[in-house]
Amino acid sequence: MKKIAIFASGSGSNAENIITYFSARNSARVELILSNRSDAMVLERAKRLQVEAVVFDRDTFYHSDRIVSLLRDRAIDYVVLAGFLWLVPANLLAAFPDRIVNIHPALLPRHGGKGMYGDRVHRAVVEAGDAESGITIHRVNEVYDSGDIVAQYRVPVMPSDTPEQVASKVHALEYQYFPIEIEKELLKF
Ligand code: GAR
Repeated sequence: MKKIAIFASGSGSNAENIITYFSARNSARVELILSNRSDAMVLERAKRLQVEAVVFDRDTFYHSDRIVSLLRDRAIDYVVLAGFLWLVPANLLAAFPDRIVNIHPALLPRHGGKGMYGDRVHRAVVEAGDAESGITIHRVNEVYDSGDIVAQYRVPVMPSDTPEQVASKVHALEYQYFPIEIEKELLKF
């Protein structure tokens, strides 16, 4: 059984969905939740779901090997970013080549890059008058939102849609497809 670590900065609804998905399967389990925010709701979810959670600060993440060591200690095979807002440092990328995946709540390369996350993305989609949005699941590299695309799924955006309505359609796609795409990636190694 493969071991997954999830990095999340906020609510963690995707993290919870992934934990639940794999708890009913033999392919993998979520071993660890990591967050850069001590007040993130994902930590409450981890506690309720009895998954170990670790909070770290910027200095630890960017100027030490402590996170990589922790992931190695727990024998983590695969890393998932689910609403994680910091750029992944080189030591972590090198430790998990092609084994870090992220989800972005739009159809990259549209509406990606530094500072484009969560509701800001949905506002940008509505302001641009886009006729569709969706999700992009991609491998992580040293530049925001620019790694190889694993999968994209689309939803129509109506001219009358608010950013909240777009968010709700996009979240539904995330919950439906992110765990399945993670599982497919895990089967490749
Ligand atoms: C998700 O919609 C995810 O796609 C997005 O943050 C949200 C986290 O929600 N990620 C990004 O915007 C990354 N640039 P959650 O904490 O409820 O899973």
